[in-house]
Amino acid sequence: MLISKDGSRWNLESRMETHFEVDRLKDVYRQYGERGWGKKKWAVTNRGNQAIQQERDRKLEQLLQRAGFLPLGNRRILDVGCGTGEILAGFEAWGARPENLFGVDLLAERIRRAKDNFPEMTFQEANAEALPFANGFFDLVALFTVFTSIRDHQMARNVSREINRILRSGGAVVWYDFRMNNPFNPHVRGISRKGVRRLFPEYDSRLMTVTLLPPLARRAGCLTDLLYPWLASLLFLRSHYLGVLIKS
Ligand SMILES: C[S@@+](CC[C@H](N)C(=O)[O-])C[C@H]1O[C@@H](n2cnc3c(N)ncnc32)[C@H](O)[C@@H]1O
Repeated sequence: MLISKDGSRWNLESRMETHFEVDRLKDVYRQYGERGWGKKKWAVTNRGNQAIQQERDRKLEQLLQRAGFLPLGNRRILDVGCGTGEILAGFEAWGARPENLFGVDLLAERIRRAKDNFPEMTFQEANAEALPFANGFFDLVALFTVFTSIRDHQMARNVSREINRILRSGGAVVWYDFRMNNPFNPHVRGISRKGVRRLFPEYDSRLMTVTLLPPLARRAGCLTDLLYPWLASLLFLRSHYLGVLIKS
């Protein structure tokens, strides 16, 4: 039995962690780090990356507004697979308070950097198969490109079950992830609408396609403002699903 910050108790019995998948993920991210993959690709100075983020933020704001979550105010938000914390910090723009922002990630190094970057938020190194929070503690759970990294179906099921446990009824999962496989990266797998529904079967899930294929977006350079909206209007060039999935 564990006791959470707010004094409530929860049971860790019957929770299984898929240690081999944890080891595989840590190994994959160690390789990415050694090759400097993420850094170059997702540089914030790249115009295409900026356009991807602006489009996503604009559409997510509309979805949150329509679902009645804005302004975020006192809502508690957990970012699962939070990396170094930038996406979680973005929720402050919609009125979230830093003391209500929590992030977990498998990777100790990312959590260390998240704490350095955003000391007023709460970050913990944790496997999302066993989240260290009480039942129904959160109003929103952010999932940004997390499930596509998880190749093992058992881990994916365990993580979605844990998210369901710590999310209150009427709360929501914010989903943003690849809908297609990446032919250049065997460590990830795209997740279809059906795949999202399988993970969160009881949720009211409305997903929209967003994001111009990142390798294309990043090459647009000074023509980004012109090309991004035009190319992103073509469904087959949109690589991600974005959605707010409401728990009944
Ligand atoms: C592709 S990165 C995305 C990071 C961040 N959400 C973003 O969009 O920039 C996926 C992250 O999920 C984390 N992750 C994958 N499986 C996890 C698990 N079972 N528990 C906690 N974190 C996990 C990884 O360590 C990694 O930091």
